[in-house]
Amino acid sequence: MAGINQEQSAEDGIYCDVIDGILMPPFFKQKRSEAYKAWTVLPDDIYITSFPKSGTTWTQHVVKLIKNNGKDDGVNTDKAMPWMEEAHPDEFKEMQSPRMFKTHMPYNLMFGGAPATSPSKFIYLARNPKDVSVSLYHHAKCFKLSDTEVAFPFSWDLFFEAFMTGQNHYGSWYDHVLPWWENKDAENILFLKYEDRKKNPRQAVEKIATFLSYNLDPDVLDSITQQSTFEAMKKNPATNWSWNKEKYTAEFVMMRKGVIGDWKNYYTPEQSKRMDEELKKQFPGTGLEFKFEE
Ligand code: A3P
Repeated sequence: MAGINQEQSAEDGIYCDVIDGILMPPFFKQKRSEAYKAWTVLPDDIYITSFPKSGTTWTQHVVKLIKNNGKDDGVNTDKAMPWMEEAHPDEFKEMQSPRMFKTHMPYNLMFGGAPATSPSKFIYLARNPKDVSVSLYHHAKCFKLSDTEVAFPFSWDLFFEAFMTGQNHYGSWYDHVLPWWENKDAENILFLKYEDRKKNPRQAVEKIATFLSYNLDPDVLDSITQQSTFEAMKKNPATNWSWNKEKYTAEFVMMRKGVIGDWKNYYTPEQSKRMDEELKKQFPGTGLEFKFEE
């Protein structure tokens, strides 16, 4: 992942495979990528899509609760909504509708690059890149290759450099977010920011329910909001990634901090300035903004 050069990654296939110029996790082989380009979407499919560490698990849980009228059936989030890249499309042939998936695939690697004109629904989650990078740093450094070796034993400074140039799984954060933002007004796309959800979680739950055409009672919306707080999800074995323990070192926690602004504990003033400048350069005139002062 971070800090691995593309040639080496492509050759050894341990950390990353380069697919259409993007560093993808090693399990997302070229043939899967090709198969997903020809993937048949169904009108009632729901896709929870994001750059990693933007609130994906949070949304999976909310969507599952919405679908179950506020009842937690105890099925873990990745079972209820499988991670597409980990599987070959053929594995989903028998899945019952409405199918729900999570994916971090960049827009252009998805379904021939045309989610906005597909008949199914997409919820895209964005989070400010300073917090995304810090969260991803903590996630990546705990990923085990074996009992004695971690895949990405990098310092924060090295990780930051890698993130700034897209040398991480799923490639450049900027390239990931922008196509979804540009298509955010499509009827079948709901673009949500982590920061807005943190500030008004009840409103976000209602927005998601309405987007998915569920008309839920106010007390059900309240209950879903309660069940999907950071604290509730940290305690819940169906949401806290307890099922993934063997893949990570003992220090790994999925529900790590769940706050806005943890980047301030990691970014140097110089790194912060570089990110601010990069954002200005990458998104000129698009209206896509992330505020960092809060
Ligand atoms: P931190 O590492 O900053 O704590 P993803 O599911 O896309 O990998 O995102 C994981 C991030 O979302 C983690 O961020 C995690 O703590 C945070 N998160 C998960 N559930 C949350 C919730 N209910 N409320 C706020 N943040 C949550």
